[in-house]
Amino acid sequence: MNVITCIAPVNIAVIKYWGKRDESLILPTNDSISATLDTDQLHAKTTVMISQDFKEDCIWLNGREEDIKNPRLQNCLKEIRKRSQLSGNMNDWKIHICSKNNFPTAAGLASSAAGYACLAAALAKLYRIEGDISVIARSGSGSACRSVMGGFVRWYMGFDKYGTDSLAKQIVPASHWPEMRILVLVVSDEQKKVPSAIGMKRSLETSELLQHRIMHTVPERANKIQQAIVEKNFKTFAELTMKDSNEMHATCLDTYPPCVYMNDISNSIVNLIHSYNDAVNDVKVAYTFDAGSNATLYLLEKDVSAVVGVLDYFFPPLENAENLEYKRGLPINASEPSQNLLEKLNLRKHPPGQLKYMIYTKVGDGPKYFVNPEDHLLDGQGNPINYP
Ligand code: PMV
Repeated sequence: MNVITCIAPVNIAVIKYWGKRDESLILPTNDSISATLDTDQLHAKTTVMISQDFKEDCIWLNGREEDIKNPRLQNCLKEIRKRSQLSGNMNDWKIHICSKNNFPTAAGLASSAAGYACLAAALAKLYRIEGDISVIARSGSGSACRSVMGGFVRWYMGFDKYGTDSLAKQIVPASHWPEMRILVLVVSDEQKKVPSAIGMKRSLETSELLQHRIMHTVPERANKIQQAIVEKNFKTFAELTMKDSNEMHATCLDTYPPCVYMNDISNSIVNLIHSYNDAVNDVKVAYTFDAGSNATLYLLEKDVSAVVGVLDYFFPPLENAENLEYKRGLPINASEPSQNLLEKLNLRKHPPGQLKYMIYTKVGDGPKYFVNPEDHLLDGQGNPINYP
């Protein structure tokens, strides 16, 4: 088969990657840990095809032809062709790549992670590559290396200057903690953000807090959260997740000039989660923020209904929310908060529409391959299907 199609998941870090020790090889300054989200709700899908008839390498992303010379893409292709097990001159055949996400790019969900993991998984199969493929995904986008596996995943920073030991490894599969759930809250925000690659570089050059984070906080915290995941200790998991998000964003503020990713709504969500945990006298929900204003909440299935009820109360959707598909992903039955809880929370209700929508999902498996030719995004001639 000279054509392969697969889907790959999004991942959301609980111990954040922020800082590169080598920019061109994409080697991080600290380990990071994430959960892989279920591809049933969110995924990138990619078809790769090689043929002796193709005149040149081409790529289409979300319906548009893009520049194949993109250096990160070239890194992936170089790495693949180096490790290829294809016989004869097939290695020199040109490639067509077509990829799309099943979620809006505007959701700010690090779509590059799912995209590059999907590309690495598809290419590895096409070129019959054995062994670790996280290194190939990493050469496209750092956090992508954590999306080539399911469950909870740790990306080891490694120490080799060529990056041979900077790999992602699974901590536990998705089935280990089946009660774990994820709620992505997409915050309305028009603000233009500093791209993460630029933010990281600036932090490394100017933030003393980042040095503290690299040397002291993360090495200890990564081991502790890994243990909490293995032991399914939600309270410890949640506390460390929130602390790590806070430290990453504190580092961004300590950067000069500062990188501000969270906005007032993000901060109100933080406030609400702490008030809720205090009111129920337990740690039931954790928040985490990437390089943007959207919140990702980690919580257990049994608490989802109550938490969404509280979110609906304090961040009411717009009147026409049903038309806008306000609640996406797995079905949610929100329960109305009691008067007693509302009194304990004692917070301000926001005007409708501060959250654009929410996506409810769970921890899932790594990339999946398709065997049915109908699933390909390229036709027999290597042209994108359904695209003008
Ligand atoms: O892989 P990048 O360059 O998109 O960086 C992602 C960095 C964060 O999302 C902020 C943190 C992480 O570990 O995913």
